[in-house]
Amino acid sequence: MSDRLAGKTALVTGAAQGIGKAIAARLAADGAKVIVADLNEAGGKAVAEEIGKGAIAISCDVSDPASVAALFEQIDKETGGIDILVNNASIVPFVAWDDVDLAHWQTIIGTNLTGTFLVSRAATDQMRAKNKPGRVISISSNTFFAGTPNMAAYVAAKGGVIGLTRALATELGAYGITANAVTPGLIESDGVKKSPHNEAFEFVEMLQAVKGKGQPEHIADAVAFLASDDARWITGQTINVDAGMVRH
Ligand SMILES: NC(=O)c1ccc[n+]([C@@H]2O[C@H](COP(=O)([O-])OP(=O)(O)OC[C@H]3O[C@@H](n4cnc5c(N)ncnc54)[C@H](O)[C@@H]3O)[C@@H](O)[C@H]2O)c1
Repeated sequence: MSDRLAGKTALVTGAAQGIGKAIAARLAADGAKVIVADLNEAGGKAVAEEIGKGAIAISCDVSDPASVAALFEQIDKETGGIDILVNNASIVPFVAWDDVDLAHWQTIIGTNLTGTFLVSRAATDQMRAKNKPGRVISISSNTFFAGTPNMAAYVAAKGGVIGLTRALATELGAYGITANAVTPGLIESDGVKKSPHNEAFEFVEMLQAVKGKGQPEHIADAVAFLASDDARWITGQTINVDAGMVRH
């Protein structure tokens, strides 16, 4: 831990639990003031209290334009604007292709891809209005490389997140804003522990170059690097953090 993010404000979506919570804690440990944004209002508040260091919780549904607008109004009131955005909020489904209907597709795309768009839209507008050389870090998934089963809509959305990241990097570089994606492998998050994905660790570990069970902190460490000045020359990239399971 360091003070390399001192004076920075970071918004982490979906930070009431799991990987988002670990990212929020790590960015705060590096000196950032953290905004915990989540659908789960009580969970978000508990995380902000646990983190301390000026962290605040704001409830938000990233798939809802009005909710995202309200989030940024509150951020404007309570802070000097964000320097770092981490698009982490996501639904992690386990649905076989034969059960993927339009409703499921729209739900997953709505939160995992449109939600990333809506928050990135508002955040990069705010960063430029306040002349901030911001950082946009979006959590994708190594399932995009692997084409993992039972996640078709999710895999498509996560590929979209990588595409959006590349386009944002091009369009925002002139403002000193970088955009990068992180692709975690299987991580023992709160969500995964309660889902059928929890049964996949043995198989995934067999494919990993480095053995062990992925933890939320493994992802938080990579995000903290991308958020820092050490990563100022990196943009439009996707950093795969999965113990070497897939090579891309
Ligand atoms: N856990 C893994 O194995 C894994 C692997 C690759 C990528 N990821 C990605 O990492 C990120 C975090 O995953 P996790 O396993 O910690 O998930 P999780 O299910 O444990 O937590 C997700 C959080 O997002 C919140 N959320 C869901 N929909 C939201 C919405 N519409 N608006 C605001 N908040 C919302 C939930 O309330 C929850 O707090 C996700 O982007 C996920 O796709 C996870």
